[in-house]
Amino acid sequence: MRKPFIAANWKMNTNSKSAVELATGVVKAVDGIDNVDVAACPPFVYLQSVIEAVGSDSKLAIGAQDIFYEGNGAFTGEISAEMLTDLKVKYVITGHSERRHVIGESDELINKKTHAALDAGLLPILCVGELLEERESGKTNEVVSDQVKKGLAGFTADQALKITIAYEPVWAIGTGKTATSAQAQEVHAMIRELLAQMYDAQTADQMIIQYGGSAKPENTKELMSCADVDGLLVGGAGLKADSFGEMIKITSELYASL
Ligand code: PGA
Repeated sequence: MRKPFIAANWKMNTNSKSAVELATGVVKAVDGIDNVDVAACPPFVYLQSVIEAVGSDSKLAIGAQDIFYEGNGAFTGEISAEMLTDLKVKYVITGHSERRHVIGESDELINKKTHAALDAGLLPILCVGELLEERESGKTNEVVSDQVKKGLAGFTADQALKITIAYEPVWAIGTGKTATSAQAQEVHAMIRELLAQMYDAQTADQMIIQYGGSAKPENTKELMSCADVDGLLVGGAGLKADSFGEMIKITSELYASL
């Protein structure tokens, strides 16, 4: 059985005080839960204080929301893998839809970032997902497959096992509109099938595929009950320790009963 993995993406939220409070609140909320991997991705500027507050071997692993693909050097405003590993950051999100669609990142850039992360020993969370018009014109599988193939270009099966895929339909992010569990399962199964073609059935079977897009305590059980949904990437509901903690408890109980 795959171990569920629930991560909060804090996006451009919190401040120096509330970031530490939120992280320590989550640590308290997940105390005693061992059957779920848990992470939070604060803004870059609060990574250090959050890691100092929770400890680098805490059950709450810490991730960054982005990375640059080059090593250190003349890249104004960017953050390298080395800087993140120096702080004991464990995960890094690549290809989030806001970076694809607001900042304009390409699949090629996202692939380079994912390689830089993995090469440095960070664990990437590679996000993919279709826009509303792509879903409405029947292009979901085509768009998502293309993003998965391009995002994972150049990785071996052993490397791919360290990468989490997050399927986040863009129309469900921050809108309150969650994909139904049937919609999520359909795309997750398609991604796993694609991973089996790209690598092999065993690799595909072990890879973690998270769902993201208005995930909250109320829909956690239904989403996490889907055969190919192995975790959640949580935006809004991850900004409150009690709601995020609740999602982890629900998942823990569900998996304990399987
Ligand atoms: P949301 O964001 O949960 O607020 O929809 C999810 C995400 O963008 O990762």
